[in-house]
Amino acid sequence: MIEEIKLNEFDTKYFIKDVGYVIIRKLYEHLDITDVFINEDKRRQGYAYKLLKFIIDNNLNYKIMLEVNEINIPAINLYKKLGFKKINERENYYKDKTALIMEYSKDIYILAIESSCDETSVSIVKNGCEDVSTVINSQIDIHKNYGGVVPEIASRKHMENITIVLDECLSKANMKFEDMDAFACTYAPGLTGSLLVGLECAKTLSLIYNKPFIKVNHMLGHISANKINNTLKYPLISLIVSGGHTDLILMKDENTSKYLGSTLDDAIGECYDKVAKILGLEYPGGPNVEKLALNGKNTYKMPVILNDESYNFSFSGIKSHVNNLVHNEHQRGNEVNKEDLCRSFQDAVTEHLISKTKKALIDYNVKYLLIAGGVASNSHIREELSKMCEGIGVEIHVPDKKYCTDNATMIGAAAYPLYLKKEFAALDTNAKSNENI
Ligand code: KG4
Ligand code: ZN
Repeated sequence: MIEEIKLNEFDTKYFIKDVGYVIIRKLYEHLDITDVFINEDKRRQGYAYKLLKFIIDNNLNYKIMLEVNEINIPAINLYKKLGFKKINERENYYKDKTALIMEYSKDIYILAIESSCDETSVSIVKNGCEDVSTVINSQIDIHKNYGGVVPEIASRKHMENITIVLDECLSKANMKFEDMDAFACTYAPGLTGSLLVGLECAKTLSLIYNKPFIKVNHMLGHISANKINNTLKYPLISLIVSGGHTDLILMKDENTSKYLGSTLDDAIGECYDKVAKILGLEYPGGPNVEKLALNGKNTYKMPVILNDESYNFSFSGIKSHVNNLVHNEHQRGNEVNKEDLCRSFQDAVTEHLISKTKKALIDYNVKYLLIAGGVASNSHIREELSKMCEGIGVEIHVPDKKYCTDNATMIGAAAYPLYLKKEFAALDTNAKSNENI
């Protein structure tokens, strides 16, 4: 049995009675292995491995380092087996012998599942930032026949597709379930029936392979799309623009987030979809409105949107305005110029996003902006936000477009810090259709 005794403020001794011990020193986020000793008669029986493995497993959020004499081959092999890698050398550290500086850096692979709406997606994410393999099965072609997502059809399709998408993701990565360190899944917010498919799948895998299960909030996932191939800088403001959300969130650090403002009515993506529907464009409307706007001119006057001191948004007024405008023109027997109308609409909502985001950045003196969510894949919005940030000396990070709309890579990226903090979820975790970060 491994026991633990604190030697002083920094040093702790882990030991197995009558066998041996390991002493560690913890300083900030560093953990140094300062001494390893196994009694002569207990060596080569796996005790050092057992002690060190115990220390590693219980200190996943520490950078673990050690020094070893270059001629101590059995020890070096033991450390390598545990996942330590040589990162440096110190010459003549042990009299005339070199010390190898080794760091524990086991790669963490998380298999993540996203099924909150109409995309069945599975991804394998390495160390929270590297997309090893991602598969997205979109149901858009089915739902567009109905002009929007039909929840009952969505959950049935997730059921049909989930095992196929899982297999494809693993074979693309050339990996097995056994290679995963944890299974993660979106549990909220979203369509309950859809969420349940991914959730039950991830929990079952966790049970079968005896690996932790991590529950991820979909909106935290959208924000975490910014962590793929990128390191975040705090404090930051995150602008979430999706089919169900339009939020400005201040994050002082990874664990502290505060909602500055949200939409008071429709989400921006919902508004794009509604405008598309009014104009007879296919679901999802966002990309189609953007396409038409590209060749249009800003000729239609749009109402001024919620020009107040808050950080809130509002999109229902502009939606009704477009609806009335098209309706009135039809009644007069006129056709609207769809390209110009899309352009005028897009300019107005972009301006609204910009004015509120700019105000929040200035008022809170924040120098780093993230954007997230399906609407963040809109090139015009990306460009205009970038220009605004440049004008006020703020750095902006925009995720690759393929990580803006729903995908499981962002869920794996969000799950990684939870894995390091051992924030694992119970296997009776249920889906929640509505839950904030
Ligand atoms: O984040 P997402 O994939 O799903 C939700 O979590 O809601 O966002 C979907 C929304 C839809 O409303 C879609 O029309 C919108 O994002 N969207 C766009 C664009 N691409 C997707 N809106 C404007 N321009 C785009 N290029
Ligand atoms: Zn989403």
